[in-house]
Amino acid sequence: MPRLWPRHTRRSDSPAPADAEPLPVWDCHCHILPGLDDGPAGMDTALDMVRMASAHGTRAMIATPHAIQGLYGTRRPQVLRALAELRQRCADQGLAVELYPGQEVALTPDLAERLAAGEILTLADAGRALLVELPQSGVPPYWTQAFFRLALDGVTPIVAHAERTPLLGDPELAARMIEHGARLQINARVLRAGGRIRRTVREWLRRDWVACVGSDGHDLGRRPPVLDEALRERLHVPAIRASLERPGVL
Ligand SMILES: [Fe+2]
Repeated sequence: MPRLWPRHTRRSDSPAPADAEPLPVWDCHCHILPGLDDGPAGMDTALDMVRMASAHGTRAMIATPHAIQGLYGTRRPQVLRALAELRQRCADQGLAVELYPGQEVALTPDLAERLAAGEILTLADAGRALLVELPQSGVPPYWTQAFFRLALDGVTPIVAHAERTPLLGDPELAARMIEHGARLQINARVLRAGGRIRRTVREWLRRDWVACVGSDGHDLGRRPPVLDEALRERLHVPAIRASLERPGVL
């Protein structure tokens, strides 16, 4: 896999010289590739999204177009092609954000088989973690089998925007998924929430269940590719800092 970040990257608690490279900031969930799903329709908007992410401090993004059978049938080769084109266009325009391929894959019983068949992509194509979208209406019982088979292949299922899934209201199910080797991805903007959502997400962070943070950006308006809320809390919440700097998916 490609080099993900310079080995000499400093920890944020180390004294950094004035000319130090910027700290890594990873957006692990973003619909940035044009024309593949409900993200940007065209290349110009995709480039504007990368520009916006960069202006807000993001240094690396994992492109995670939907893979939903029957709706967005995006497969690995299409994602890699679209990513190569976006990378090239970013390089042409001097945009320094590093881009990696991935997918947000709707839960099916055969995730491991689809991965082995080269149909779907792990995060950053690193072979370590798969971003899995759970149905919002309820999690089918076959999740245990699907997660178990991924684990046999050394792949960690990462529950996409866990705060928008049935896990939010079902701590027992969340704990079972963690016991089955899963970890969670949260969207940065949930850190602004109050009440029960806030308490639940803080508990996930405290228990170190959160592997990574994402923008789940889709566009330049309602769902922008920014991590502002996470960056604001980065210095105060170690789990957020770790998720941004060394996502547990790589
Ligand atoms: Fe998403």
